[in-house]
Order: sequence, then structure tokens, then C-alpha cells
Amino acid sequence: MKDGPKVKLAPSILSADFSCLGEQVAEATKAGADYIHIDVMDGHFVPKITIGAPVVAAIRRWTHLPLDVHLMVESPQPQIKQFVDAGADIITVHIEADPDVSGLVREIKRRGVRVGVALNPVTPIRAVSKILAELDLVLVMTVNPGSAGQPFIEGMLDKIACLRAELDKQKLAAELEVDGGINTRTASRVVEAGARVLVTGAAVFNSRQTVGQALEEIQVSLGVKKRLF
Ligand code: DX5
Ligand code: ZN
Repeated sequence: MKDGPKVKLAPSILSADFSCLGEQVAEATKAGADYIHIDVMDGHFVPKITIGAPVVAAIRRWTHLPLDVHLMVESPQPQIKQFVDAGADIITVHIEADPDVSGLVREIKRRGVRVGVALNPVTPIRAVSKILAELDLVLVMTVNPGSAGQPFIEGMLDKIACLRAELDKQKLAAELEVDGGINTRTASRVVEAGARVLVTGAAVFNSRQTVGQALEEIQVSLGVKKRLF
């Protein structure tokens, strides 16, 4: 087994069975997830509408894990408070969603939760360079945001590596999270490039295996766990 960097797994509930969401979150928790990733889509920043703060509050009752709330929401400032009140531990906003991302970062911090900023695949790293030091997490989208189950965009490996180098150069502790198309084939490659938090939706919540088996397969692919089944 490898003695590599500590890697966190953040199952995205977007692919879970919403008719038994609580149980699915509990299963991911029991299976050793590190965060529960919650994709909030507003129908403007991305075409779909998913869930809002009441569902985050409901999930809060099913897990002790940090709730990693990914807001794919245009100008989300007025909505921050409701997600904090619902129990979010990390709130990530998109740099493309608001011209005043620094203001958003301050607002999230002021409310006492961890703050992340996400970059769409086309958005260059330099867009976030000046605020990196303010962040607890920086999220590199490895698909275009909007839906689960899309293929990983290979070109994002270089971006992850550049961002890793930038964080290390500036000696910053912000977590480097990746989101989109992460599975047993891509997980080790993004970790090698420098990612430390892996969001994974369709690869974890599917009809082929239990959440526990799926998370274990990813850990095995990373060389951090021996296969038990
Ligand atoms: C995409 C979402 C992702 C998505 C990931 O807009 O932000 O979190 O659920 O799903 P997979 O792992 O299926 O690509
Ligand atoms: Zn997401």
C-alpha cells in the first residue's frame, strides 16, 4: 500500500436516490466518506434546479460529517445565510457567478463557515490567484457544471498540477478539491496531479454496488486500502 498524501472522499448526493436521501447519506457516512458534497443548482447559473437549504437541513440530521455545499448559483450573496443556518460546514461559490467574489468570501467567513471558490473548466487559475490566501478550499471543476455522470475532462490535469504548485509556492493550506467524472480510473491521476478532496457522484451512488463497495473501490484504486470483498 502507498504512503501517499491524505485524500478525502466527498460523495455527491446528486446521484443518490432522493426518495431515501437520509439513508443514502447515512450509508456514505458509515462507509468512510470524509465530506458529504451537496450540489445546489439554481436554474440560472446552470440550467437545472436541484435542491435548496431545507434539504441541506434534512441531510444535517443524518450525518456528523462536514456538509460541503457547492453553490452553482448566480449572485448567491442573499442565499448564504440560509445555507449556514441549514448546517453547511463549507460553502463553495463559483468565481464566474459574481463580480464581487471577495465580498462573497468575506460574507461566508463572517458567518463562521469554511469558504471555497470553484473554477469552471474554461476559467484560468489566474482568476483566483489573488484570493487564494483567503480560501479554505479551491474547487477545480473537471466537467462543466450542471449534471452528474459526465466524462472527466483530461485537460484539467495540468490545471490541477499548476494550482497545486501555486498553493505550495505560496505555502497555502487551502484544500484542492476536484469535481466531475471522478471514478476508479481517474481518482489516482487527479491525486498524482495534486488534488486532495475528490467529489464523486455517479461512481458512488449507482445500482451496480453499495455505496460502501464503491467508496472502497476508489480507495483501492488510490492504493490506500486493501480490497476486503
Ligand atoms: C456537477 C456537480 C458534481 C457532480 C459530480 O455539476 O457539481 O458534483 O454531481 O458527479 P459525477 O461524479 O457523476 O461527475
Ligand atoms: Zn459539485
